Amino acid sequence: METIRIEDAKQHVGEQVRLGAWLRNKRGSNKMQFLQLRDGTAFFQGVVSKAEVGDAIFAKVKALHQESSMYLIGTIRQDDRSPFGYEMDVADVTVVGESEGYPITPKEHGTDFLMDHRHLYLRHLQPFAVLRIRNTLITATYEFFNQEGFIKLDAPFLTSSAPEGTTELFHTEYFDTDAYLSQTGQLYAEAGAMAFGRVFTFGPAFRAEKSKTRRHLAEFWMIEPEMAWMHQEESLALQERYIAYLIQAVLDCNEYELDLLGRDKELLAKYTHLPYPRISYDDAITLLQENGFDLEWGVDFGSPEETFLANHFEKPVFIVNFPKAIKAFYMKRHPNRDDVVISADLLAPEGYGEIIGGSERETDYAYLEDRIKEMGLDLDEYQWYLDLRKYGSVPHAGFGLGLERMVTWVTGEEHIREAIPFPRTMNRLRP
Ligand code: 4AD
Ligand code: MG
Repeated sequence: METIRIEDAKQHVGEQVRLGAWLRNKRGSNKMQFLQLRDGTAFFQGVVSKAEVGDAIFAKVKALHQESSMYLIGTIRQDDRSPFGYEMDVADVTVVGESEGYPITPKEHGTDFLMDHRHLYLRHLQPFAVLRIRNTLITATYEFFNQEGFIKLDAPFLTSSAPEGTTELFHTEYFDTDAYLSQTGQLYAEAGAMAFGRVFTFGPAFRAEKSKTRRHLAEFWMIEPEMAWMHQEESLALQERYIAYLIQAVLDCNEYELDLLGRDKELLAKYTHLPYPRISYDDAITLLQENGFDLEWGVDFGSPEETFLANHFEKPVFIVNFPKAIKAFYMKRHPNRDDVVISADLLAPEGYGEIIGGSERETDYAYLEDRIKEMGLDLDEYQWYLDLRKYGSVPHAGFGLGLERMVTWVTGEEHIREAIPFPRTMNRLRP
């Protein structure tokens, strides 16, 4: 007899199969029990009839608690009334692990309670759907960049530099010196681009963000492609192709999960239509001012501004050429203006904010050295980075996609903490 997983049930209609599953919930009578089962691939129902299984097994099933684990043997049947479309008529049950007093009951629980029990809550419907979509985004990222001729290059997580600013650093001891948890793999990706042409890093980024917003994590995962011999325009085209590819992958692979979450698939499909609009920071400021926002040229956008801009275009939108003063030191200066840099943020619609930040990179040794000093960074820590401009400097560009921001948007979740298995925020280090 074949052992199957629930997602494969449709290939076994009419067959007797074996299955390992957990019990989510059950209801029924003294003659029939309806078991809500899950095995990590899908949710479906097992029907146990006393007449079929006999008194002993039926009594055992009736006594089972939520999250008990078991082997079931039974016949798969198509059932159009069930949301999954298939059910199992159970012939035998072997209990593997009992489960008494499982804390997450079918009643409503508050967010703090669920996050305190995240190690168990992962088993439930919403994290199941969200994190399987996250997995698709990761897999599709590797596929996309492989197809585009990139190699994955792993950047270190322990570093001595603070390229994205010194205010949000996690400090740690490193033998007898100081170290920081990496804010970005970018500088290492730039070294990689000079060696391999096109690389991407993918790893955790650490920011001691003292903000409790629904968009910020202290530990998040970032995908950072870096391309030698590439200017910003080509990088923007690559970015939008990448986002469209990711969304299409989720539409192709996760219809079940999107339906569980009630996410609008037609709306998502619209985001695969390219190109995305591009608007300069200058024009964005004017547009915001005309629409009643009280702000001056030079400020960074907060979440109300980002939400307005992306909703205005009903699509992801690139905001290009930000003021130099509010961006990182490595961004390339504008050829005709000293006050802006060749940068772009991609804002997601529906209030999800910045999902990508990127730029063309400054290539001039002396200018970059000045910028590092102006930013108050320790020049010694960036000598190796400056070497990249000393030995065969070439035009290059790159960007960083925040994986959890992307997951939150695609799944339509309210809060970024849902988009990662074990979120790290200002007030959460456990579990
Ligand atoms: O805009 P950021 O800070 O850019 C960089 O780190 C560059 N080194 C990227 C590059 O050019 N290689 O971060 C990039 C993206 C943001 O657009 C956002 O999606 C995400 O990372 N991000 C965060 N996600 C969750 N929590 C936080 N605290 C985040 N900070 C940035
Ligand atoms: Mg940014």
